[in-house]
Amino acid sequence: MAEPHPADFWESHYRAGPVWSGRPNATVVDVVTGLAPGRALDLGCGEGGDAVWLARQGWEVTAVDISPTAVARAGEAAAAAGVDVRLVAADLATWEPDGSYELVTASFFQSPVALTRGAVLRRAAARVVPGGQVLVVSHAAPPPWAADHGHDHGGPDRFLSPQDELAELALTDGWSVVLAETRAREARGPDGRTAELEDSVVLLRRVSVPATTRAVPT
Ligand SMILES: C[S@@+](CC[C@H](N)C(=O)[O-])C[C@H]1O[C@@H](n2cnc3c(N)ncnc32)[C@H](O)[C@@H]1O
Repeated sequence: MAEPHPADFWESHYRAGPVWSGRPNATVVDVVTGLAPGRALDLGCGEGGDAVWLARQGWEVTAVDISPTAVARAGEAAAAAGVDVRLVAADLATWEPDGSYELVTASFFQSPVALTRGAVLRRAAARVVPGGQVLVVSHAAPPPWAADHGHDHGGPDRFLSPQDELAELALTDGWSVVLAETRAREARGPDGRTAELEDSVVLLRRVSVPATTRAVPT
């Protein structure tokens, strides 16, 4: 059977009902707490847990997801929290980031269907100002319930160690690595089982902008 288009896959995933907890990801909270708020771009924001939390901390947030249903839920969450989040329902494979950012976040921006992940992350990173950061948190390994509940992200090549993540980002010139590590996290699966999951956490800081692109973001 042909693989569904990412827009169809994720929209039907969210239409089936609320998916995530609404809470921000613990690593985002841990890493971002203490940073001076500025402009943030959240890639694959889902139902907006991270985006709304960032806005509550004073960040001016743009959050993008391919699923209009997820984006609508993120809008409801922002309204309920009394914060403004600029929400965009778009395929990041083609969406062009506008403006410039002090922070780009991508939490579990992984997919069992087609995703030009590295290109999306690099396009967003190109909009980060000197001193700004890119935080990518990803599943380093499948949860034990993956096979039973269709949460498999398509095989080992789609789970990323911090080194895989750095290779995929390919941000070497003008970037410094602040964090590249795995972190354990306890999670409850669809069948109620709890397990310790492993996440890759990569944080890069832009130290300079190449001379050829200096004119683009302001
Ligand atoms: C595993 S979920 C993570 C959601 C959220 N960041 C979180 O941590 O709860 C991956 C998200 O990426 C989004 N996504 C996948 N492919 C996308 C694409 N091409 N453009 C925009 N969003 C995409 C999905 O709709 C989904 O919300």
